[in-house]
Amino acid sequence: MSSFIPLSVPNFCGNEKKYVNDALDGAWVSTSGAKVDEMEACMAAYLNMPRAVCCASGSSALHLSAIVSGIQRGDEVIVPDLTFIASVNPTTRYVGAEPVFIGCDETACLDPDAVEDFCANCCTLKEDGLYNNKTGAHVSALVVVHVFGNMADMPRFLEIAKKYKLILIEDAAEALGTKYTAGPLAGKFAGTIGDVGAYSFNGNKIITTGTGGTLVSNHDDWAARAKHISTQAKTDVVQFTHDQVGYNYRMTNIDACLGLAQMELLEGFIQHKIDRYQQYKAALDGVKGFSMLPFREGTRSNHWFYSLLLPDRLDRDTVIKTLHAQKIQTRPVWALIHEQCDYGRNQTFALEQAKEFRRRIVNIPCSTNLTEEECARVIDAVLAL
Ligand SMILES: Cc1ncc(COP(=O)(O)O)c(C=O)c1O
Repeated sequence: MSSFIPLSVPNFCGNEKKYVNDALDGAWVSTSGAKVDEMEACMAAYLNMPRAVCCASGSSALHLSAIVSGIQRGDEVIVPDLTFIASVNPTTRYVGAEPVFIGCDETACLDPDAVEDFCANCCTLKEDGLYNNKTGAHVSALVVVHVFGNMADMPRFLEIAKKYKLILIEDAAEALGTKYTAGPLAGKFAGTIGDVGAYSFNGNKIITTGTGGTLVSNHDDWAARAKHISTQAKTDVVQFTHDQVGYNYRMTNIDACLGLAQMELLEGFIQHKIDRYQQYKAALDGVKGFSMLPFREGTRSNHWFYSLLLPDRLDRDTVIKTLHAQKIQTRPVWALIHEQCDYGRNQTFALEQAKEFRRRIVNIPCSTNLTEEECARVIDAVLAL
């Protein structure tokens, strides 16, 4: 009887238990504790950033990013339509702003041509910023998501953000370890290129702390402010005074222990993901109408999620059911965000490719402990569809 092959599960094969036990023995379980500071130092060193702020989740890191970016109530923010909803809620509605949804290109990341087209032809650039011709609102920020660990086109987005006076927020929730290896940004990690970037350590991410995240910024005072706001904006730990509305968004010491152990494994996890991706690609890409979504050239992607593009003859949900019957877990790409909650009333732009990916992508098993044999079983099942 063959065993269940999950889509993406955590892999605790290092020092996780040891470090967590040390924290429990010392009774440091909450948000104060030396391990949170150590995890911040570890993240900053890995990402080559002056500092990192460890948070309760990727969503809270994104909310803090929006706050320190100064996005105002009534502003508009350009966001991708093809992403997880946590790219959008914290950077728009949480701060009273409204999203403008723009589609993706063939990389599944936000399409820079469409963003430029929207800014140039649907907005007016004034001395104090960009204004949407249709709504009159100030378009103050641009959220770029590195979808499935694939680097968005950052040289283009840097150029667009500068030209149109937009704050550039990177949602690198899925892209810890993805970096440029060539070109003007060689050596730069996803999340460290724009004004502010956020990572997630949720259970299905390349490393996990159960739930957790990190924020980095190229403005040191933004990172410092994010940390302050993440700890209830407390100004005096004895008197309990606070200088603004803050949040309980700091990572816990226990989560930081998990994170430190997982960071020791990160580069090995990435290599494992690359190896299994290559195995899938060699067997499936261009065979029987299937293709594997590639990762951007000139980068070392973390290869977090693998996207299988189905041929037109196959229906996505039937494929998912057929594979499930063989104990292989897969999933479709997210339902487009402009169809969620009440986002239907927000403006959309150039969604054709996003709709196509929504219809044709199936994410296939990619855990960091997926074996060569399990991968071969998935390949056989796909080729039999
Ligand atoms: C693209 C993207 N953005 C944001 C998040 C939110 O992160 P978290 O679940 O840690 O809040 C996630 C993951 O869950 C994600 O995949």
